[in-house]
Amino acid sequence: MKMLITGARGQVGRALLHSLAIHGEVVAATRDGSVDNVTLPTTALDLGRPAALADILTRIDPDVIINAAAYTAVDRAESEPELAHCVNAEAVGALGRWAADAGVPVVHYSTDYVFPGQGDCPLRESDPTGPRSVYGHSKLAGEAALRESDADHLILRTAWVYDAQGKNFLRTMLRLGAERDRLTVVDDQHGTPTSANLIATATAHVLQHWLAADTATRHAQSGVYHLVAGGRTTWCGFARAIMDRAVQVGLLARAPQVEPITTTDFPTPARRPAWSVLDTTRIRETFDIELPAWEVGLDAVIAELTGAR
Ligand SMILES: NC(=O)c1ccc[n+]([C@@H]2O[C@H](COP(=O)([O-])OP(=O)(O)OC[C@H]3O[C@@H](n4cnc5c(N)ncnc54)[C@H](OP(=O)(O)O)[C@@H]3O)[C@@H](O)[C@H]2O)c1
Repeated sequence: MKMLITGARGQVGRALLHSLAIHGEVVAATRDGSVDNVTLPTTALDLGRPAALADILTRIDPDVIINAAAYTAVDRAESEPELAHCVNAEAVGALGRWAADAGVPVVHYSTDYVFPGQGDCPLRESDPTGPRSVYGHSKLAGEAALRESDADHLILRTAWVYDAQGKNFLRTMLRLGAERDRLTVVDDQHGTPTSANLIATATAHVLQHWLAADTATRHAQSGVYHLVAGGRTTWCGFARAIMDRAVQVGLLARAPQVEPITTTDFPTPARRPAWSVLDTTRIRETFDIELPAWEVGLDAVIAELTGAR
């Protein structure tokens, strides 16, 4: 089984290299074909050039595609809508059309930012979408493009992704926590921090079940699933949890004061949903998987950072 993982230098892509390598042959794809510290086969694949994808995919000849590449710069997307749409939607459609012709299943990731952000109940896959940002629109268009391609697919919507490496909220908080005595963090956006490692291990589990199913079942199981850790918090709650643990293990000498602010106190180019807590019943019941509380993933990443010092 040859598994093509795109975005192999990203948070989720890197975690997937580890979780999927034990299940078969992995080919790691990045924009320029280079990935640090891996002994796996690598290839160049640029989602910014959708017209070139079919030839590249034919050459690689994968048995399954896991698309963890995306234009993820949420604020920058407001001023680069064409590029965001190209990478997150057009390229996903091209990838799906190649996969449909070749009979190759596709796993793709999407986001809580496809939702408008109202409400106070965990959001189900069937709840109405309504993105408020260019990034959210581009990711929703990517979902539609993959669905319309007719490839067998799983679209895994995740949220608030962080890892011990990469550019993310946890690493920003640890840096600011070391520099400042006081931080203000948005406390009126609700969601679930989800570690890249949880996404990768859950993807490996789901993929095993899905690919082992007969063709009709695999086709019937195609669609959108919410994949996030259990529980919920706010960015401010997440920041406080990060600081508490970082002080406990000695990553920070002392905890800065973390004070809550509102979204209007912290304007950003892109609007973000106030409520993006996702209901994960569908993925848990379909693929018989447990999704631990978000604090479990945070403890693991803090332990990884502590060990790496
Ligand atoms: N991060 C989050 O909080 C979050 C939340 C919800 C959903 N998601 C979704 O989860 C998935 C994985 O996200 P992540 O957090 O792992 O993102 P990430 O760390 O930003 O990684 C994305 C990867 O995509 C690659 N990429 C960007 N443009 C590309 C192009 N034109 N061609 C090929 N590769 C390209 C990037 O390559 P370079 O390293 O070369 O830039 C990067 O390695 C994405 O679908 C994202 O939309 C993420």
